[in-house]
Amino acid sequence: MNHTQIQSIDAWQIYDSRGNPTVEVRVVLAGGAAGHGLVPSGASTGQFEALELRDRDPQCFGGKSVYKAIANVRQVLGPQLVGMDALDQAAIDRRMIELDGTDNKSNLGANAILGISMAVAAAAADARGVPLFASLGEGTLLPLPEIQIIGGGAHANHRIDVQDFLVIAVGAQDYEQVMRMTHDVYHAAGKIMRRLDGNVGLADEGGYWPSFDRNDQAFDVVMQAIEAAGYHPGKDLAISLDIAASNLYDQQTGTYHFKLENKVFDSQQFTDLICDWCRRYPVISVEDPVSDTDIAGWQRVHRELAGRVQIVGDDLFTTSVPRIRHGIENNLANSVLIKLNQIGTVSETIDAIRLTQQAGWLPLISARSGETEDAFITHLAVATNAGQLKVGSFARSERMVKWNEVLRIQHALGNRAHFIGRRIYDGILKQT
Ligand code: PGA
Ligand code: ZN
Repeated sequence: MNHTQIQSIDAWQIYDSRGNPTVEVRVVLAGGAAGHGLVPSGASTGQFEALELRDRDPQCFGGKSVYKAIANVRQVLGPQLVGMDALDQAAIDRRMIELDGTDNKSNLGANAILGISMAVAAAAADARGVPLFASLGEGTLLPLPEIQIIGGGAHANHRIDVQDFLVIAVGAQDYEQVMRMTHDVYHAAGKIMRRLDGNVGLADEGGYWPSFDRNDQAFDVVMQAIEAAGYHPGKDLAISLDIAASNLYDQQTGTYHFKLENKVFDSQQFTDLICDWCRRYPVISVEDPVSDTDIAGWQRVHRELAGRVQIVGDDLFTTSVPRIRHGIENNLANSVLIKLNQIGTVSETIDAIRLTQQAGWLPLISARSGETEDAFITHLAVATNAGQLKVGSFARSERMVKWNEVLRIQHALGNRAHFIGRRIYDGILKQT
């Protein structure tokens, strides 16, 4: 056996940042190199995502256990992959796609397949004797983070309708300055939130739990926090939104619902509202401004905002090459949220990033709301020169491990590391 051939694959159940079961896989190569794959899990999951296989036995972890996926790793996928070369990620991922045989990995589970795919990538890096980012690609660009200040939607029991109010330190000259500015704004926001509600806590991704009567009150807190920290909104830190609008959409009636304000909008009214927010506040990026099936809404938002705002498709594209290609051909956005477990293999994820970049669009590498102590996505962001990273807020170790990993990679890269900050937007935004 060649030393990079797969010798064994094992899997077991671990627990994510919400305390829910998820899959961990360990791949060992003939030469002794090894790697782990820890699979994240979303809450505002798009309808076009690859399938996360759960056991659905109400008596066992409330239906959320992943023992079937683990059995698929150990008994179905693993034995077929033993002997394959871990350096040929594409061949291994292709083989798993064939073995599954469905479009959305619903036979063996995207969580089973992705766990192996990530573990193979990590084992290949170990065998090469290089860090994961250097094994995954040639990139050396440190990402510009989008960092959540207030969490809502499915991450805060729908206490407000909009899912994420985030900041981007567009004025930062280097990654350390991004961390410092974000630190200052996050803690300033904490003081403001505690004044509004002495019992304020944190939502699933570490942003503050919202206590508002209207969705747009969150803007006031973020603006005040930027100023209280001594920065200029728009110049030093811009605002980013993830509306996660598929969760607000009623497919039957084609309307959007803000439960907090007891308001219903048709598609035109909803896009008017979102575009108005983007004009009234220094918003530089908006994700899922409308539902994944409201194509006319996407085109309207694009007509209004392209050139001024990054328009990011998450549920719209689900990291799927054909869906992204359709979006490029129809001018639906100018940026793609990239989540490994939406598509289920490392090589399909890298293909999605490459297609996005070839179109002159921007990839935005993203965590899930249910995360693990793993920092694979930070390495993926650097390896592909993606230029942007979104992993939730500035608290909680499953989030901080990803931000801190950028600092470690920066040290590993030495003078090859580079950071271009807001210049990443030059290709898609005018006057930046
Ligand atoms: P999710 O949220 O992981 O719950 O899907 C993240 C996002 O919508 O970007
Ligand atoms: Zn999203």
